[in-house]
Amino acid sequence: MCGIVGVVGNTNATDILIQGLEKLEYRGYDSAGIFVAGDASSQLVKAVGRIAELAAKTEGVEGTAGIGHTRWATHGKPTEDNAHPHRSETERFVLVHNGVIENYLEIKEEYLSGHHFKGQTDTEIAVHLIGKFVEEDGLSTIESFKKALRIIRGSYAFALMDSEDASTIYVSKNKSPLLIGLGDGYNMVCSDAMAMIRETNQYMEIHDQELVIVKADSVEVQDYDGNVKERDSYTAELDLSDIGKGTYPYYMLKEIDEQPTVMRKLIQAYTDDKGQVTVDAKIIKAVQEADRIYILAAGTSYHAGFASKKMLEELTDTPVELGISSEWGYGMPLLSKKPLFVFISQSGETADSRQVLVKANELGIPSLTVTNVPGSTLSREADHTMLLHAGPEIAVASTKAYTAQIATLAFLAKAVGEANGNEKAKAFDLVHELSLVAQSIESTLSEKEVIDEKVAALLSETRNAFYIGRGQDYYVAMEASLKLKEISYIQCEGFAAGELKHGTIALIEDGTPVIALLSDPVLASHTRGNIQEVVARGAKVLTIAEENVAKEGDDIVLNNVHPYLSPISMVVPTQLIAYFATLHRGLDIDKPRNLAKSVTVE
Ligand code: M6R
Repeated sequence: MCGIVGVVGNTNATDILIQGLEKLEYRGYDSAGIFVAGDASSQLVKAVGRIAELAAKTEGVEGTAGIGHTRWATHGKPTEDNAHPHRSETERFVLVHNGVIENYLEIKEEYLSGHHFKGQTDTEIAVHLIGKFVEEDGLSTIESFKKALRIIRGSYAFALMDSEDASTIYVSKNKSPLLIGLGDGYNMVCSDAMAMIRETNQYMEIHDQELVIVKADSVEVQDYDGNVKERDSYTAELDLSDIGKGTYPYYMLKEIDEQPTVMRKLIQAYTDDKGQVTVDAKIIKAVQEADRIYILAAGTSYHAGFASKKMLEELTDTPVELGISSEWGYGMPLLSKKPLFVFISQSGETADSRQVLVKANELGIPSLTVTNVPGSTLSREADHTMLLHAGPEIAVASTKAYTAQIATLAFLAKAVGEANGNEKAKAFDLVHELSLVAQSIESTLSEKEVIDEKVAALLSETRNAFYIGRGQDYYVAMEASLKLKEISYIQCEGFAAGELKHGTIALIEDGTPVIALLSDPVLASHTRGNIQEVVARGAKVLTIAEENVAKEGDDIVLNNVHPYLSPISMVVPTQLIAYFATLHRGLDIDKPRNLAKSVTVE
């Protein structure tokens, strides 16, 4: 979703802003812009479409400070007028914003009569408000910014510049992510560390409702009452190669290929010197004290929660309930007496999940965040964190994070179960089983050409498709269908195979593609019955089966793995199916339309 980058005190400001925005492209956007200022002049450049189109317009734009933005349209269409940065009535103040200002229409009515607006955005109203307090009411820039921040309701990360003063960027945040990057003789601001990793690996957090004054040689953090706050910097464990594509045509393929390595990294991260599974004792205690685990997540992370439910319940002896974060934000069901909320989130920034976490914290409910991003909002604000160790995931379509989420929860389930003396947990040799999963993934990855051919035959032309499965395979079907639809735009649904005959089978006609997932020895024969039902109605069926249930004629056969971990292994061919189906359609695999990687608005 929207991304912010800013720099002060560097003669390459334009280049830094453009490169930073390119690094933020993965978050999803439909227009972009930069404002660059030097001693004597300033320039504003905007473009609809890709950063390359913006970059092409910036020749000759030079300065020592600036702010840039990628916009994912919420209020108003993706046009140049609606693209950020926005300017105040006299064009003196310039602002970029990530988030949603809830009371922007009230502000317009109450404070800004007679002002002229170029677009429809909430952000333009915010910068007019700041400008009004300076230009009409005589406040200083900082007092004006603070006064506006007290009036504005909603979520925001703001970076503000005064075009008459290229020495300072003023920033503030509430619920939306923003970081300070500390350079050598210059400083930066950005929505995530990846945008600045070329320049620095030293960062400083900003907390909600703080105002930060960023200059080339100083960073001052204040609360809205002007009290100065001390803040240490930290080193980000990222390097440039983590965020490059290398020789891959798309990030998604790179990230699919990285999954065996991620499984092995997780083994290293969650075992001790003796190879025993180890998880923070405080986290084990939090699960032991809970009478029910509530998993809250969105999209792929929500599906990873389903895929982990049976394993968590059987090994921890604790019931697990799943909640869609965007639903729970506005209405929680009746909770058990001792709930533990587990937030699964690749980015750790998903606004829907954060909204639930804020409520959980108000209610004193203990919480654990399972995330790929250390220091992310959900990680900072939850009681505990378990990291995915998957390395940056750039493609919008989540792949390695899903498999890492299930594997990470397997370590949690195993550690709690062992601590409880659960027999199944004691017998579950997770390290060995996860190594087998890594091998199984490798063997699937070596079959890319075969999978590509089958996809070309099945999905090149179709407008719709179905995934079916039972038990764990149903949960994988949900994820597989999300993956296919979000990047190939094929309308695809994942169904519990036994449910087809209760309605959905009406959609099956001659040539409808149905992909069946078969891993469970008890359930596979029932799913095969459902395959016959759709074949009888003309469906073209592709089967993905684990060896132990495979039959002659199955299209993709996978190594056997432990049933708790089969969703990890089963999902990989479905990721490749989505990838190749999209490739054949000539679409942008890493940046599907309308989607954002980090969904930072509700
Ligand atoms: O960062 P999160 O895991 O919280 O994101 C949740 C969803 O937005 C995300 O999983 C989304 O569904 C993926 N793009 C799907 O591939």
